[in-house]
Amino acid sequence: LDNHLGREEVEAALAEGSGYAIRRSATLGRTMLYVAMRSAHSDNVLRLAVPYSGMREYLPLLFPAAMGSFMLALACSIAATERFVSSVTRPLRVISREMLKVRGDYRSLKFEPSPYPEINVIADTTMEMSRDVEEYLARIEKEKQIRQEFFSNASHELKTPITSIQGYAELLEGGLIRDENMQRDFAGRIKKEAVRMTGLINDILMISRLETKEAEVVMTDVRVSVLLEEIVGGLKPQAAAGQVFIHIDCQPLMIRANAQHMRELFTNLIGNAVKYNRPGGQVWVNVRESDRQMVARVRDNGVGIPEDSLDRIFERFYRVDKGRSRKQGGTGLGLSIVKHIVGYYHGTIRVESKLDEGSEFVVTLPMDGI
Ligand SMILES: Nc1ncnc2c1ncn2[C@@H]1O[C@H](COP(=O)(O)OP(=O)(O)O)[C@@H](O)[C@H]1O
Ligand SMILES: [Mg+2]
Repeated sequence: LDNHLGREEVEAALAEGSGYAIRRSATLGRTMLYVAMRSAHSDNVLRLAVPYSGMREYLPLLFPAAMGSFMLALACSIAATERFVSSVTRPLRVISREMLKVRGDYRSLKFEPSPYPEINVIADTTMEMSRDVEEYLARIEKEKQIRQEFFSNASHELKTPITSIQGYAELLEGGLIRDENMQRDFAGRIKKEAVRMTGLINDILMISRLETKEAEVVMTDVRVSVLLEEIVGGLKPQAAAGQVFIHIDCQPLMIRANAQHMRELFTNLIGNAVKYNRPGGQVWVNVRESDRQMVARVRDNGVGIPEDSLDRIFERFYRVDKGRSRKQGGTGLGLSIVKHIVGYYHGTIRVESKLDEGSEFVVTLPMDGI
């Protein structure tokens, strides 16, 4: 054997205590792994050599197994994708197809339930939205109908006085009426109809302002007893003509509100109580404070309201006795205005009435405003 002291692993063992090297052995004609160790007590070095061919030897053994598991994983992922497509993408496509089909009519969308809860969440939400849209459209449709009815009623109501005015004016214009008293009477009727029209237009404007929730509503502290004195003063001629007596019982309270609103509210309620009454009839107005709420009662022992009309009297233009109401200057808008005002202040209104015995309206409004 030649001198092994110069071998890489031996040199390393002499220097550091141990060493190794992989190298092709010329003697054996194959690759060997050499490991050398130096003795701790002397300069002797122990060197071992084993045939070594590295990983290359194992690769052919591992390759089929690696290839096999790779193919298996590939097959699994294809299958999983296929399943995902069918259970997730397909229901989504169904939903989007359904949604496209409706083309603007987003009502009553319907989807088949999917096996995946996540997909059902989307379908359910979409269906819920479609139901909301349906409700919303129905509401708009209803409002549209109410508005149309209102317009046709308003036009009809305005036409009646205009027709009268036109008729009287034509008679006067024709010069056939020579009698001065009759001429004056006709002029008086024209004026009366014009006043009626003005009242109607004011009522319509009031309702429209309340509905659009006009921004400039000035709130002040309204002294209710003072307001009631004023209103009853204004109703005196009417009450006297109908021989109706008005009793006021009002606590000295103030309410934070729009003065015009409060005037309109009480004028309509007390005016009705006087109007739908009989000679010798009475009207009691009672205003109290309770838990920072103003409780106002307007009671009369007049003609009363038939039971089947009770929930309709707040509708616009609704009148129990159309002939009587018109003769007395009613428009059928008064209680509708009252209801709008009460709603504006988030208050409540209720009515109790018995035909031929009388009626009571009770309004509750917050005293500290809105
Ligand atoms: N105090 C009352 N007693 C009897 N009927 C009433 C009373 N208040 C209102 N009504 C009935 O309710 C209808 C609607 O009232 P309202 O809206 O004020 O209209 P109107 O302009 O006819 O007074 C009246 O036409 C009348 O038939
Ligand atoms: Mg009225």
